Amino acid sequence: MYFDTHAHYDDERFDTDRDAVLGALPRAGVSLVLNPGCDVASSRTAVELARRYAHVYAAVGLHPENCGGCTEEDFAAVRAFCAEEKVVAVGEIGLDYYWEENPPREFQREVFVRQIELALELDLPVIVHDRDAHGDCFEIVSRYPALRGVFHCFSGSPELAQELLKRGWYLGFDGPVTFKNAKKAPEVIALCPMDRLLLETDSPYLAPVPFRGERNDSTKLPWIAEKIAALKGCSVQDVAEASMENGRRLFRI
Ligand code: NI
Repeated sequence: MYFDTHAHYDDERFDTDRDAVLGALPRAGVSLVLNPGCDVASSRTAVELARRYAHVYAAVGLHPENCGGCTEEDFAAVRAFCAEEKVVAVGEIGLDYYWEENPPREFQREVFVRQIELALELDLPVIVHDRDAHGDCFEIVSRYPALRGVFHCFSGSPELAQELLKRGWYLGFDGPVTFKNAKKAPEVIALCPMDRLLLETDSPYLAPVPFRGERNDSTKLPWIAEKIAALKGCSVQDVAEASMENGRRLFRI
C-alpha cells in the first residue's frame, strides 16, 4: 500500500470528481493521503476532507506564493486548524524565489519563520516548499535544531541533501524524478537512506512520465516508486513500504 504524503485534492482541478477520485484510492492501493493547505481557504478544505475520509490527513499553512498580504487573522486561523485531530503538520510553508511576482522575499522569510515557530510550539512537523531558495531555506531551518519535517519535492544539490539528512530531515520525491532531464535527483536518491524518503505526487501537478502534463493523482505513485527502486537497486515494494513507514513515523499516524 502507498502513502501519498503530498497531494492537493482541495485544488479546483478536482472540483468535478473529487469524491470519486478520493473514494477510489484505497481500492487502488493508496491507503493514506496527506493534503497540505496553501492558504486559509485551502487549509480549511484540507481539514474538511480529512474529516470526511478516513484515509485523508491534513496539513495547514500559508504557502510562500500565497502569503502576500496575509493578516494576523490568517495566522490565527492556521493556529486554530492545528487543533484538529487529523492535522498532522504545518505546511506547506517555505520560500519561493522562482516567480518575480511572488511576495517580497523578506516577507516570505517572516511568514516562514512564524509558521516554523508555531510548529515547534505545537510539536508538529513542517512541510517545506523550497523553490530556488535553497540557501535561505537551509539557513532558516538550521536555526531550529528541534524542528522536524520534510523538504517537499526536493530539488537541491546532493550536498544540501546530506546536510539536511544529517539534521534529521526527510526528503520528498515526486514526478520530476521520472523526467529525462532530472539531473541531481538520481544522485540525491542514491544517497538518501531508505528510512528518510517520502513518496509524494503534488497532485494535481507534476504527473510522472508517462503522464507528464496530465492531471496527477495519487494512483500515479508507483511510477515514482519504480524510478526510485531502480536507482536504489531494490524492489518497488521495498520503496512503498519504506515510504509508508517513514510517513507514519514523521506525521505520527
Ligand atoms: Ni504542494
